[in-house]
Amino acid sequence: MDARESLRRYLEQRRDLGESELVLDSLSVEEALRLLGATGGGSTPSQRVSHVRPSQTSAAPTPPADTAARPATRAAPAKPTKPATPAAPAAPPAREALTMITEPSEPTTPAPAQLSALVVGGGSRPGGAEPFAQLQSLEEIAATIAGCRRCPLYATAINPVPGTGNPDADFMIVGEAPGANEDAQGVPFVGQAGQLLTKIIEAINLRRDDVFIANVLKHRPPGNRNPEPAEVTACSPYLIRQIELVRPKVLLALGTFAAQTLLETKLTIGKLRGQEHRYNGVPLVVTYHPAALLRNPAWKRPTWEDVQLARRILDRALAAGA
Ligand code: URA
Repeated sequence: MDARESLRRYLEQRRDLGESELVLDSLSVEEALRLLGATGGGSTPSQRVSHVRPSQTSAAPTPPADTAARPATRAAPAKPTKPATPAAPAAPPAREALTMITEPSEPTTPAPAQLSALVVGGGSRPGGAEPFAQLQSLEEIAATIAGCRRCPLYATAINPVPGTGNPDADFMIVGEAPGANEDAQGVPFVGQAGQLLTKIIEAINLRRDDVFIANVLKHRPPGNRNPEPAEVTACSPYLIRQIELVRPKVLLALGTFAAQTLLETKLTIGKLRGQEHRYNGVPLVVTYHPAALLRNPAWKRPTWEDVQLARRILDRALAAGA
């Protein structure tokens, strides 16, 4: 399929999802489709494709001027090619590891993503990682978080929870915010949801030590309340800088806050999951938060499909030596 056809199909999908705004050039879905020679469809004039940054897509036309001029977001040196993450074996993962996620009789091979890698976010978020561009390692980020006063959460938290795992990980997982267990230990995802996350990681033939795990917020919101927008704005530059330094091949966003923060969207998780997005050029898959999964077992199957998609994307990147 050529690039124009890919882009046309992608725009049609986004229109069907009712998304809004083509960010860089203000084309509506209909205008973009007309340019591509498509007919039909039923969007209203106000319906616009969200967070499509053509310059950051493989199937896109000429980069708009502002992204072409934007400096590279990755300050870290080129990541050497490394065999850190084993490719998935041809056989499906061990059943035992999957039982928390899906029934053994369920199909384990979902339909392939219809289109890959056209939804992106990043460059336009307020502040980006700029406040922390000088931080050159995850340790420096952690030390800065330990003294952070950018929002009031430090005052009620016991410990900062900067993130944990392989600093050179190919697979990076982003959650929402520390809970009580994480606050007590200073480590993300160590409570009940964390144990389920460990099973999910192992179900795609990775180990917790292989991946890097971080949250949008680095201090616990009191009583596990939802993050406030001002807290996300204050804290997300740490996450952005962590992603720049880890330079994963795949990002997995767990739950609404992680997904909406990284993709700069208000779309629901139901609309965001099940497909490949891009965050500053890095493939990103959205799925349900493990805590939500514990409350709603019906989301096990879609979660399993999402993490399999993420694993396939990782395997593709490893095979390509990216
Ligand atoms: N939920 C999250 O989003 N992050 C954690 O670290 C723990 C629970």
